[in-house]
Amino acid sequence: MSFIEISNLQKSFGPLEVLKGLTFEVEKNDVLAIIGPSGSGKSTMLRSLIQLEEVNGGSIAVDGDFLVKDGVYSKPIDSKKVVAKMGMVFQQFNLFPHLTVKQNLELAPKLVKKERSQDYSLRSVELLEKVGLSSKQDEYPSRLSGGQKQRVAIARALMMNPDILLFDEPTSALDPQLTKEVLHVMKKLAEEHMTMIVVTHEMEFASHVANRVIFMDEGSIVEEGSPQEIFSAPKVQRTKQFLNYELYE
Ligand SMILES: Nc1ncnc2c1ncn2[C@@H]1O[C@H](COP(=O)(O)OP(=O)(O)O)[C@@H](O)[C@H]1O
Ligand SMILES: [Mg+2]
Repeated sequence: MSFIEISNLQKSFGPLEVLKGLTFEVEKNDVLAIIGPSGSGKSTMLRSLIQLEEVNGGSIAVDGDFLVKDGVYSKPIDSKKVVAKMGMVFQQFNLFPHLTVKQNLELAPKLVKKERSQDYSLRSVELLEKVGLSSKQDEYPSRLSGGQKQRVAIARALMMNPDILLFDEPTSALDPQLTKEVLHVMKKLAEEHMTMIVVTHEMEFASHVANRVIFMDEGSIVEEGSPQEIFSAPKVQRTKQFLNYELYE
């Protein structure tokens, strides 16, 4: 069994079918890049993994535990366990503006109340160091650049020790220089063998850091393979068109 197994995932918003039976697997230590045009269901798929969206059919299992099986959700106590294995980083950072950087990191462990504050305080210091933001721990988000905000968001996602990190276009709101610093942190995580699913338009990142690439269009997986296969020798016409469009945009 693969680490993450997603099968026949279906989701509609009213009459609009957004996920049309997605099936794919993710192994431990995989960096899976998901590319595809706007509106193809990439965000909905990621959001479904952490139960920000409820799917209408199909299954999601992590490490053998089901979040949803054939469209039926596990009991809250079990589904929470599955969702807790994942951390997510959003395009728009989603930091709490009224909390300092360090407080943003410590909110989740504080709410969960399973750990002594000394322990998570130590971890937040370490994680801020890891993303290069030790000096910003007492700043409020409004005083940070977009790249710094996103690095805080990554550190925050790591606070609960997730097995998997999900990224939804983490650099789309950033200019090229700030994009670089965020991609640098993500590359470091990949080198440390973090399992990651990254929705991205950064073809450079997808081809150099990911070990697998999925091209999605209109709620379906069109093509899947190694970066080499997808970027150098795509088999499907729609993939070729999309890549040409991205390259010359
Ligand atoms: N909450 C929602 N209600 C209705 N339609 C939605 C909602 N969220 C997304 N959609 C629609 O679902 C489709 C896929 O959206 P999304 O998953 O955001 O695509 P992507 O991330 O690939 O751009 C789009 O047509 C979008 O308008
Ligand atoms: Mg999206």
